[in-house]
Amino acid sequence: MRKIALTGIKPTGILHVGNYFGAIKPALALADEYDTRLFIADYHALNTIKDPKELSANIRQVAAGWLAAGLDPEKIIFYRQSAVPETFELTTQIMAFTSKGLMNRAHAYKAAVQDNTEKGDDPDAGINMGLFTYPVLMAADIILFDADVVPVGKDQVQHVEMAQDIAQAVNFNYKQQVLKVPQAVVQEEVAVVPGLDGRKMSKSYGNTIPLFAPEKELRKLIMRIVTNSQGVEEAKDPDTSQIYLLYKLFASAEEQQALAKLYRAGGMGWGVAKEELFRVVNRELTPVRERYEAIMADPVTLDGILAKGAAKARPIAAATVKRFRKAAGID
Ligand code: TRP
Repeated sequence: MRKIALTGIKPTGILHVGNYFGAIKPALALADEYDTRLFIADYHALNTIKDPKELSANIRQVAAGWLAAGLDPEKIIFYRQSAVPETFELTTQIMAFTSKGLMNRAHAYKAAVQDNTEKGDDPDAGINMGLFTYPVLMAADIILFDADVVPVGKDQVQHVEMAQDIAQAVNFNYKQQVLKVPQAVVQEEVAVVPGLDGRKMSKSYGNTIPLFAPEKELRKLIMRIVTNSQGVEEAKDPDTSQIYLLYKLFASAEEQQALAKLYRAGGMGWGVAKEELFRVVNRELTPVRERYEAIMADPVTLDGILAKGAAKARPIAAATVKRFRKAAGID
């Protein structure tokens, strides 16, 4: 029997090239080894996004984006959290086994409190119960699907450890294995993707290349990459060049060698390197962009894919909730 991997995607904005190499590709590769479940964590996003148009657009764009990037819904169970109401029953069930102290120690909550304190505000200003209990909902997401492994970034490890604590508390109380205890797997930066300004590509730095930028915009963004002031004739070092580091993610081994040679030979201006980078980025992203546009233009099909995923997910979820009810005497 294959082990189960599960991870959640918070729909909080436009996907970019950093997400593509850092999160999407590694998550999709999991399906070779694990029974994989991926879901859009739309109720997690509700904690911060209160504009219905914005939230709805984010959910659709992120779902379409993952499908366009290669998620095969026949191989991976792909669903929206909100389409699996068992999530919210399990949340209530495990709430009784989650100490308030555990929530007080959650990094995201603590950071929000500290932020308020530093500003001289009430410590709980702007903090809703959704944020405070975020780790319980996330634990339910994970435990509901009997996940063995949860691939996450470093910032989410504490949340997975809380899911472990909670599952263990339930099993200990009922003296049986009611819930599976998950393991976090930290995805080592599969690829550090450089942004347009020399720092790591990140939405918070505003230095991203959006995954579905139209060709014209893509070229403009690449032409904006910051370079040093070396002249055309000077020999250049590929390994310290933003352009070359991005190029490596998109180009074949032969192409990489050829461009590195041009760098070292001198006589190549930055404009030439940028044109070559644009060529390979556009080559890789054009089919992804075209698929994305086709999916976005056909909302009925997109809804159908997500509904099919939810239909596969719900029986698994219902079995977990039932196991808990039985153990707890609520059957
Ligand atoms: N909290 C995760 C994030 O911010 C998203 C998420 C929600 C998640 N539920 C999950 C991740 C369950 C892994 C497993 O990115």
